[in-house]
Amino acid sequence: MNVEPQSKGLIEIRDLGVVFGCNGGTIEAVKSVSLTVKPGEFVSLIGPSGCGKSTLLNIVAGFVKPSSGTVKVDGMPVIGPSANRGVVFQQYSLFPWLKVRENVEFGLRMQGMPSGQRETTARTLLGLAGLLAFENHYPDQLSGGMKQRVGIVRALATSPQVLLMDEPFGALDAQTRVVMQEILTNMWQQFRLSVLFITHDIEESIFLSDRVFVMTARPGCIKAEIVVPLPRPRTPEMTASTEFIGMVQRLKALIREESLAAMGSELQDGGLSGFGMAVGPSGVAEVI
Ligand SMILES: Nc1ncnc2c1ncn2[C@@H]1O[C@H](COP(=O)(O)OP(=O)(O)O)[C@@H](O)[C@H]1O
Ligand SMILES: [Mg+2]
Repeated sequence: MNVEPQSKGLIEIRDLGVVFGCNGGTIEAVKSVSLTVKPGEFVSLIGPSGCGKSTLLNIVAGFVKPSSGTVKVDGMPVIGPSANRGVVFQQYSLFPWLKVRENVEFGLRMQGMPSGQRETTARTLLGLAGLLAFENHYPDQLSGGMKQRVGIVRALATSPQVLLMDEPFGALDAQTRVVMQEILTNMWQQFRLSVLFITHDIEESIFLSDRVFVMTARPGCIKAEIVVPLPRPRTPEMTASTEFIGMVQRLKALIREESLAAMGSELQDGGLSGFGMAVGPSGVAEVI
């Protein structure tokens, strides 16, 4: 009997709030965010700059403690970083003094895996990402896209339940980005883990995701949820479909409202209230 392996990585975020102390005052970065990422699901978060996306991801990663609310992964409260939650940032966070394969093996070494097994695991993963020929290169000898592929492989090496990605392709050119999106979706389907993905790029969020959450301007809360009904595997041709273009338009309109609201509050913070900027209603949770 052919039994499909179980998908993993249930993320449950409940009523999350974050207030930072800043210059003697406070900044409310995230407010009343509740969302669930189901095992094996690919979910994107999109919203104006400064709305709390990275803060939210850093809480799920265990790098930042929330002021209120809870985050659980597979039923366990998040109390700090863990190899069960792989993280990939926009800036390539590879160790420059280690070769590509040594970078990938790093987490496995920390877990005490014997060197032969480490090497096999790392080489298998590098092969999947088309990087086996570069296993003995140093990060400085690689292009941006290759470095980010190593970053993804390294995050996957310890078999995490979830992969958390904060604008991972933000520094890449458009062509490399498209290739990276395909590589990522292929690896995600093989690993059957859940992904929480932050991006500024509306098309990217739709192309990759099962669902896209739009956040309001700061304090960030969930403004809307868009379900992406496109079949898998996704193909570049789908981006030309009426359905895809319709979703892009809806997301653009939602984000434009929030970007204007964010700019309005920045202007007001700077003492320029009355400038005439249209500030849309924000903070109203709405599911469309
Ligand atoms: N450690 C911190 N201390 C004070 N303020 C912070 C800190 N981290 C983030 N912020 C503020 O919280 C808000 C949300 O930041 P961030 O989560 O980085 O937004 P995004 O990723 O959506 O651009 C911003 O106003 C930012 O300046
Ligand atoms: Mg950010």
